[in-house]
Amino acid sequence: WFLLGRRRRRRQGEPPLENGFLPYLGCALQFGANPLEFLREKQKKHGHIFTCRVAGKYIHFLTDPFSYHALIRQGRHLDWKKFHFATSAKAFGHGSIDPAEGNTTENFHQTFIRTLQGNALDALIEAMMENLQYVMLQSRTPKLQSNAWVTEGLYKFCCQVMFESGFLTLFGKEFNSNHDKNLPSKQETERAHILNALENFKEFDRIFPALVAGLPIHLFKSAHSAREKLGEALLHKNLLKRDNLSELVTLRMFLNDTLSTFDDMEKAKTHVAVLWASQANTIPATFWSLFYLLKSPEAMRAATKEVQRTLESAGEKISLDGKHISLNRKQLDNMPVLNSIIKEAMRLSSASMTFRVAKEDFTLHLENDFYNIRSDDIVALYPQLLHFDPEIYADPLTFKYDRFLNENGEEKTDFYRNGRKLKYYYMPFGTGIAKCPGRLFAVHEIKQFLALIFSYFEIELVDNNVQCPSLDQSRAGLGILQPVNDIDFRYRLKCL
Ligand code: HEM
Repeated sequence: WFLLGRRRRRRQGEPPLENGFLPYLGCALQFGANPLEFLREKQKKHGHIFTCRVAGKYIHFLTDPFSYHALIRQGRHLDWKKFHFATSAKAFGHGSIDPAEGNTTENFHQTFIRTLQGNALDALIEAMMENLQYVMLQSRTPKLQSNAWVTEGLYKFCCQVMFESGFLTLFGKEFNSNHDKNLPSKQETERAHILNALENFKEFDRIFPALVAGLPIHLFKSAHSAREKLGEALLHKNLLKRDNLSELVTLRMFLNDTLSTFDDMEKAKTHVAVLWASQANTIPATFWSLFYLLKSPEAMRAATKEVQRTLESAGEKISLDGKHISLNRKQLDNMPVLNSIIKEAMRLSSASMTFRVAKEDFTLHLENDFYNIRSDDIVALYPQLLHFDPEIYADPLTFKYDRFLNENGEEKTDFYRNGRKLKYYYMPFGTGIAKCPGRLFAVHEIKQFLALIFSYFEIELVDNNVQCPSLDQSRAGLGILQPVNDIDFRYRLKCL
């Protein structure tokens, strides 16, 4: 009976139901193979809402963007925390962070908002600007000594530069490893530690989808060991040996110590969770932004022009004598072309999913109709349906660098479907209460990365006709998808 997996019968007033053919798994394999295609097919068959049995759970998919606000408005019947808390504990190996379970009274979401937005964001941006230049120009110096071209994988490059700079920005620098050019050995040691953390991060990240799907980490020996090593590196006693910790990490250490009963390794694993959240989506988003730019001469011209204008009006001059340029939050906010490029690159590569769990039986009111939802069922949005909808985004698979610019060259915010203006048209960062608290920092750091690349380097693809790599669907539902293969590019310092 268990193996057969008890199938639900659709009751009156409930959305159309797809039990799938497989016992227990239901539609899981079809969904997992290509979520977008699967959901489009079911949408065609059933309309704007339908229920799928996926791995023993019943998920109601809302596919009409005009109904998205229903989910937000009826939040009192729906829980967003339990699923997040349970997934985080399972994947990162810390105890429950649900205050209801008594390990901690910290409100994590509040901590994140307080330390990633508002004034705290200015400090993060300032530190990231410095760290990106340190990583691009000094930490990687051996490769750049002559002005010969360096050829590398673009994903590998984005991964190293963003991980190293982002790590330094959140977790600071080891004492004494200042950026003095006369102390190369200390610099190299610091870099080796961070690149080692990057290897562990990649090993762990590779199996992240399996952990979210519920497989125990013990099945993956090397990824398990990589996660433990990341934890070791982020033990409070090791963090205390670092300078310039971000407000986020300092506050989280304090709250771990004062509001939780976690042991040292569990505290460290809450930092591993923050490290993962800060990098796992940012790295592929950076890759796609730069890749599409390199493929589009028109976008490249517009971006370079905007970067030059911004530097000029900020009174900043590029030089290679060790004096770094600085652009503050306001100046970065005034770069609509880069903003549009990053948004467009993320529209094309994002496959996040919004989940809410029904706290009780209730009636979900949509625009023109209503449906009964049972307690513990999941209500989900899959915004890739929206991002690839040809009625909203004409020619949706094509990168158009100015898609998010209006006639005045400012950010475009009016998008329509069936002649009606949409409130929700762009959702790589999720929506509602659980929306990514790091979204502003993420966009700023990618902008900084692009602005610096075009300021200091000449850069081009090895093969201008190279095909756009496909998206790795194994991570669908988790955020920005990675490319299935890397692309070679070359770069060299500009002669200034
Ligand atoms: C959560 C996307 C970068 C910190 C999330 C969620 C998404 C997301 C979709 C889940 C929201 C939901 O469940 O509805 C992204 C993307 C990024 C990015 C696409 C980059 C392009 C960052 C960065 C940081 C960060 C740079 C921090 C420095 C977090 C945290 C959460 C989160 C802490 C969990 C929030 C909570 O549960 O309270 N992100 N994110 N993210 N993100 Fe991001």
